[in-house]
Amino acid sequence: MKSSPGQQPAHIAIIMDGNGRWARQQGLARIEGHRRGIEAVREVVRAAGETDLRYLTLFAFSVENWQRPEEEVNALMDLLYHFLREERTYLLEQRIRLQCIGRVDDLPKRVTDEVREIIEATSSFTDRTLVIALNYGARTEVVDAVRSYCRAAAEGTENPESCTWERFSRHLYTGDIPDPDLIIRTSGESRLSNFLLLQSAYSEIYFSPVLWPEFNRREFFTAIECYKARERRFGKTSDQLQEPIPATAHHL
Ligand code: IPE
Ligand code: IPE
Ligand code: MG
Repeated sequence: MKSSPGQQPAHIAIIMDGNGRWARQQGLARIEGHRRGIEAVREVVRAAGETDLRYLTLFAFSVENWQRPEEEVNALMDLLYHFLREERTYLLEQRIRLQCIGRVDDLPKRVTDEVREIIEATSSFTDRTLVIALNYGARTEVVDAVRSYCRAAAEGTENPESCTWERFSRHLYTGDIPDPDLIIRTSGESRLSNFLLLQSAYSEIYFSPVLWPEFNRREFFTAIECYKARERRFGKTSDQLQEPIPATAHHL
């Protein structure tokens, strides 16, 4: 468990917000904001490669985003598809594993197929993981986890009487992914918008006023420096943090 100031984050999750407002500021269509947003994604993925970060999670499309105009949703799916196709080589070269969280099967077939293929092709990589939250919502995730847990209970591989957070959380989309140490949200909004609500229980949160298309390497490193200056106490006192933490301390 990481607690003392100065620690590097192992997992950063980003709510990439503000593409539409950036486009409006430039007098452009919203889709141009999303296009520029993809450039920021590339820059941040590469910046993450310069750090010790093991997991980078990017919130790309929420379950609520289907409510947007059809034209915008289609354009987002198109951009996503092309982004995945183009990043594939980079992920393979850099030995970065791709994982997705969300109801990926409900995306357009070509996006789902591309995602599945890259997940498969990169599944043996262990050092770094890029997690894309696609058609993701935290409440949907809880519902899917409960369904998965109940199925397992019916099959006898889970026992509700001895349910712990450790066991239940394995049924979340993030079952084998550690909780984020730091969550960054861009565009000046101070909310989580149904993103990783359970996993963020003890995450540090950094709100940046920068609109996502203008978020860059420098902003990313600034967020990490801010994280390193914080003290994470996990319910304890500052003094206790100096003491060694027993291996079972986080088991609820
Ligand atoms: C984030 O930018 C991208 C997605 C949600 C897909 P927005 O499109 O939400 O941009 P704003 O918030 O309208 O500026
Ligand atoms: C959150 O941004 C979703 C993503 C970044 C993919 P939204 O723009 O959808 O969030 P709200 O509607 O402002 O809360
Ligand atoms: Mg937004």
